[in-house]
Amino acid sequence: MESTGVRSNGTEAIVATGLTKWFGVGETRMLAVNDVGLVAHFGEMLFIVGPSGSGKTTLLSMISGILRPNCGTVSVKGADIWTLTDDQLADFRLNTIGFVFQDYHLFPRLTTAENVAIPLILKQRNWNESISEAGKFL
Ligand SMILES: Nc1ncnc2c1ncn2[C@@H]1O[C@H](COP(=O)(O)OP(=O)(O)OP(=O)(O)O)[C@@H](O)[C@H]1O
Ligand SMILES: [Mg+2]
Repeated sequence: MESTGVRSNGTEAIVATGLTKWFGVGETRMLAVNDVGLVAHFGEMLFIVGPSGSGKTTLLSMISGILRPNCGTVSVKGADIWTLTDDQLADFRLNTIGFVFQDYHLFPRLTTAENVAIPLILKQRNWNESISEAGKFL
């Protein structure tokens, strides 16, 4: 995946620049995302499309604080997320990011409502209240 040219007009929720990620080392090294930038404004719905293997999940993972890029920056609501400590990054993922994973990553021993309620429980919310709120989301 490649793209360049990030423009800014001051209403950005997310600004990513120069994002680059490779996997493996030496001869097996492969470049999954190559110098990609994007801007997402508040309230904007953005689609990332491309063939299988073009780097969509890798790009989203770097933007959402899940996968550290080899190069590039990600600013979310003005915070440069890849300069945060691990604890700050965990807080960022809990409080700012909602992510439905491609392969779900659900806890099989929990009910659907319990899976959805996990972020609320991690925020110290009452168990019954969290389950009830999860039901509304579902
Ligand atoms: N953890 C990893 N280790 C090694 N290679 C990886 C890893 N994750 C992704 N890749 C490789 O990086 C490239 C981009 O993968 P990615 O999953 O980001 O693509 P995608 O656009 O999300 O594909 P799909 O549409 O199939 O979900 C692929 O060649 C993939 O094999
Ligand atoms: Mg994917």
